[in-house]
Order: sequence, then C-alpha cells, then structure tokens
Amino acid sequence: MPSAMRTTTMPSGEAIPVLGQGTWKMGEDRRRHAEEVAALKFGLDLGITLIDTAEMYASGGAEDVVAEAIAGRRDEVFLVSKVLPSNASRTGVPQACEQSLKRLRTDRLDLYLLHWRGGVPLAETVEALEALRKAGKIRHWGVSNFDTDDMQELALLPDGNQVQTNQVLYNLSRRGIEFDLMPWSLQRGIPTMAYSPVEQGVLARNGKLDAIAARHAVTPAQVALAFVMHQQGVIAIPKASKQEHVRQNFEALDIKLTGEDIADLDRAFPPPTRKRGLEMI
Ligand SMILES: NC(=O)c1ccc[n+]([C@@H]2O[C@H](COP(=O)([O-])OP(=O)(O)OC[C@H]3O[C@@H](n4cnc5c(N)ncnc54)[C@H](OP(=O)(O)O)[C@@H]3O)[C@@H](O)[C@H]2O)c1
Repeated sequence: MPSAMRTTTMPSGEAIPVLGQGTWKMGEDRRRHAEEVAALKFGLDLGITLIDTAEMYASGGAEDVVAEAIAGRRDEVFLVSKVLPSNASRTGVPQACEQSLKRLRTDRLDLYLLHWRGGVPLAETVEALEALRKAGKIRHWGVSNFDTDDMQELALLPDGNQVQTNQVLYNLSRRGIEFDLMPWSLQRGIPTMAYSPVEQGVLARNGKLDAIAARHAVTPAQVALAFVMHQQGVIAIPKASKQEHVRQNFEALDIKLTGEDIADLDRAFPPPTRKRGLEMI
C-alpha cells in the first residue's frame, strides 16, 4: 500500500495531489447511489482527497453524491467543480457557483474550472472567476479542454496568469498533448489534470498492457494509470464506483515504470510526432 499521496505544485505554490477521484456518470441512477458514495468515501479513507465533479454531471446529481461522501469531512477534501460554458458570463458564473456550493453543501470550492470554451468572451469569464476568488467562494480557478492556442490567449488576459490547471483528455491512447500542450504547461508550472486516464475503462481490457502488467504483478488499468502519473506535472482523476477499483488506483501510485516499460509503451502507444488538435470526450 502506498504510504503517502504524491503531489505536484500549482502556480499559486500550493501542492495538489497527483491522484484524484472522478465522478462523471455518478448520480445518474438512484440504485447505484450507495455504491458511489461508498467508493468516494473509501477513496478518502485511503487518502485520495481530490474529488473532481461538475454541475453538468447528472445535472447536479454527481455533486449530490459528492456532498454525501464528504459530509463531516470537508476539510480533508480538495474539491473541484466546473461551470458550463453556457453559464460562464459575469452574472452566470456566480449563480452557477452558488448552485454547486448548495448541492455540495459547502461554503467554498478548492478549484473551479471552466468546463470548455463557449461563446462568452474569455476575459469576462476570468473576471467573474477572479471576483469569486476574492469573495472566498473559490480558492483557485482553472480551465478544461483548452488547447495550446487557448492557453496562450488566456495567458495574455488580465489575471490570466491566475489559472491553476488545465483539465484535458490524456491517456496512453490519447497522447497528442505530449507534443506541445504538456511542455507548454510544464514550462509555466501549470499542472495538467488528465481526465479519462483509463480511457473510460477501455485500457483495462487492452491486451497490449498485459506483459507490463504481469512484470509488476498489477492490472492493465493500473499500468495505464501509472503511465499518466509518471509524467511530470500531471494529475490523474480516474472515476471508480467499485471499491476494488479505487484501491487498485491508489496502489498504482507505487508502480515504478522502468525504462524498458516506457519503451514498450511507446512502441504500443506511439507518442505524437506532430501537432494534433486537442481531443475531447
Ligand atoms: N473536463 C472534462 O471535459 C471531462 C471529461 C470526461 C471526464 N472528466 C472527469 O474525469 C473523470 C475520469 O474520466 P472518465 O470517468 O471519463 O473515465 P476513466 O476514469 O478513464 O474510466 C472510468 C471507468 O473505468 C473503470 N475503472 C476505474 N478504475 C479501474 C480499475 N482500476 N480497473 C478497471 N477499471 C477501472 C470505472 O469502473 P467502475 O466505475 O465500475 O469502478 C469506469 O467504468 C470523470 O469521472 C470526470 O470527473 C472530465
């Protein structure tokens, strides 16, 4: 069992865990509610304190699940939620945030992300996020699904340098960001938060991972996760509603991929050799 969570550092200087718990698809089916709450609680017990959610997930239902899981232990948690682009205006952002806080039964978010770019000018959204930060409703803000050109545009805006993370699709079968977005972010000390790190479960069934998994006596999903967390400045947020998966994901922190492992992974899942547009799920 890993004894401690590893962290990386946000531009603010604050440490952030390299492993968190995703919540997409939670809160959709009442019959799975207890299992989902229990999985998140189990993760917290292990020390996976970062929880990623969004107002979009199950139209607020995932935030309700999270609220139940973190009840009575809010201070242990690094809570991330996201605002929809349709709510990303000067008046929309504070309203959406208030709704999320209400559903999550808390008075603050640790990190609030713009879920993806929409029609509202970025400068207006940043202004609204900064106002929330100054009011103490959110401790930090960031973005999601931003490609390099979006990040460059953001960096030029007033207070654009307050961005603390960019949450994007990243896993062994989606390595495009290694070409430019990841190095760009790393150079500026902005952590990349990797969503769908096991490709929504698909990598757990990928035979190309079997040999490496066998070498470490772990599962293919754990190898996929270890690969993501092996990258400097990258945070993985797998979603798991089964406690066994949560435990395996935590234990993946301890997998030390060797040079041979990385070479094998590069052969099976080649890194990009040219710029590719950012992929989204
Ligand atoms: N910003 C965005 O636009 C965006 C987009 C997508 C996702 N996200 C965030 O990122 C999180 C993770 O992404 P995701 O949910 O799309 O996909 P994911 O984490 O790659 O995959 C989740 C699936 O993998 C399974 N799984 C988890 N751990 C496993 C393990 N150790 N062994 C085998 N299977 C395992 C889960 O099963 P069980 O649930 O049955 O345990 C679930 O079916 C989301 O939940 C969400 O918080 C953000």
